[in-house]
Amino acid sequence: MVSSIKKIIVVGSGIAALSFAKTISASCEVIMMTKKQFSSSNSMLAQGGIAAAFSAQDSVDQHVQDTLAAGCDHNDERVVQEIVSLGKHMVKQLVEEGCPFDQTENGMPQLGKEGAHTTHRILHAGGDQTGKTLVQYLKNQLGSHIHLCEYHHVIDLLVHEGICIGVVWKDEKGHVHTMTADAVVLSTGGCGSLFETNTNDPSVTGDGLIMAYRAGAQLVDLEFVQFHPTLLTIAGKAVGLVSEAVRGEGAYLEDETGRRIMKGIHPQGDLAPRDIVSRAIFHEQQFGHDLYLNISEIPHFSVRFPAIAAMCERAGVDMASGRLPVSPGMHFLMGGICVNEYGETTVPSLFAIGEAACTGLHGANRLASNSLLEGLVLGNKAARRIEQFPKRKKTIPSSTIQESWSVPEISEKQLSQWMMTYAAIVRDEDGLKTLLQSLLQVPYQQINVKDITNGQIELSNQCTLAICLVRSALLRTESRGGHYRVDYPNRNDALWRGMQIVHEKGHIHIMKNERIGAKWNVYS
Ligand code: SIN
Repeated sequence: MVSSIKKIIVVGSGIAALSFAKTISASCEVIMMTKKQFSSSNSMLAQGGIAAAFSAQDSVDQHVQDTLAAGCDHNDERVVQEIVSLGKHMVKQLVEEGCPFDQTENGMPQLGKEGAHTTHRILHAGGDQTGKTLVQYLKNQLGSHIHLCEYHHVIDLLVHEGICIGVVWKDEKGHVHTMTADAVVLSTGGCGSLFETNTNDPSVTGDGLIMAYRAGAQLVDLEFVQFHPTLLTIAGKAVGLVSEAVRGEGAYLEDETGRRIMKGIHPQGDLAPRDIVSRAIFHEQQFGHDLYLNISEIPHFSVRFPAIAAMCERAGVDMASGRLPVSPGMHFLMGGICVNEYGETTVPSLFAIGEAACTGLHGANRLASNSLLEGLVLGNKAARRIEQFPKRKKTIPSSTIQESWSVPEISEKQLSQWMMTYAAIVRDEDGLKTLLQSLLQVPYQQINVKDITNGQIELSNQCTLAICLVRSALLRTESRGGHYRVDYPNRNDALWRGMQIVHEKGHIHIMKNERIGAKWNVYS
């Protein structure tokens, strides 16, 4: 007798994947594959926290308004409304269940403040170890129908008649396998490694985006890349993130002479939206200034921020000086695989959640601490959606694996340096064209899937994604949020409002006022 249990493959192990796994009932068997260790994710590194309108002075409406303002009106307002209100409900549930968020003396969640928030609304855990605490908490909740598989590197999707029917993966020895499923959920994060200076886990190489793209899914908003303003920087090299929560507690940016650089730049000063603060720092650096985060007014810094204090100690920073040397680095991709409110992509039976997905929540610039929130909500909604659909009736035909892979002959270092030089905080047509030309001239060699290394697969994905991102950045002839063009320094609402740059099957087009949603097509 054929089992009625549905089989679902989840690729990735961050907050969105875990929220999915916590939600989904035992009517589904979940195979959660991650290419490295379970703990290799951006979620594990998230310091700041999770935003939810908890305080009496706050409201869901105000959180929505702050999200739209940071996102420069490129957000999908309906999605913002839904994620912010459902997210608050889910965070409240976590608090009530006993998830160990930091508390005030009277047992209420302690609320911090971060950039572009008009009030205190960031819950955190372990001081600056919110992501790690949440990941561990959710992992401990998983039922026996969830199977965690480390070192299972998913390299491609199996597609039959336009429907996603499973994955191709490599084991630790490099052997190739296939696995079919009723649905595949990509929770692979963004693409921090595309830029030389970044805050991401090194395993985050844009794999999910490019696998979805090859399968025929739409990618959108790739030009919107968020640079976090404050990475601890020693001798020109970034060594880790200094949370925006530090500025939320009173730290401020100054140059080597003690001049406060955010004065007069934006009404929210040091807590202006990230794109504005990062550009201000970039501008100062162009004039040869060194930038510091002055933390001298924060009492008990190493109690409130233990992980950051430990990082400073490891890096040999003299904390007693009250100044941490900082510079910006790539942090988050606002764009991604286009999904509807359930995480469905434009390819039936293929879902995307977390940073890999673009729901429309973040617009052109993500509001701080909205990403863990989105991961929680979308993981939950995708799970509920999948539970509703029947199991496939027919046996899935064997699908062919792509045998020959094109591998670019370029190093990750070179690629990420090019991206940093021409496609980072400040862009222009000349630089983007130079970069695109260089990317298109990279020679490729053909390698059989049996012989290709994990690094070569990642590099191949990174190069494809870089080309898509740069093409998007060239097409968007305005400045908005995380996409700043010196040759088009202003927003152009008349031309661009509601428009999205979409990549699909090797084509790029501009869509107006229309977010596409996918349909679930049961293969039967
Ligand atoms: C931070 O702690 O500054 C990062 C939090 C976030 O990216 O939302």
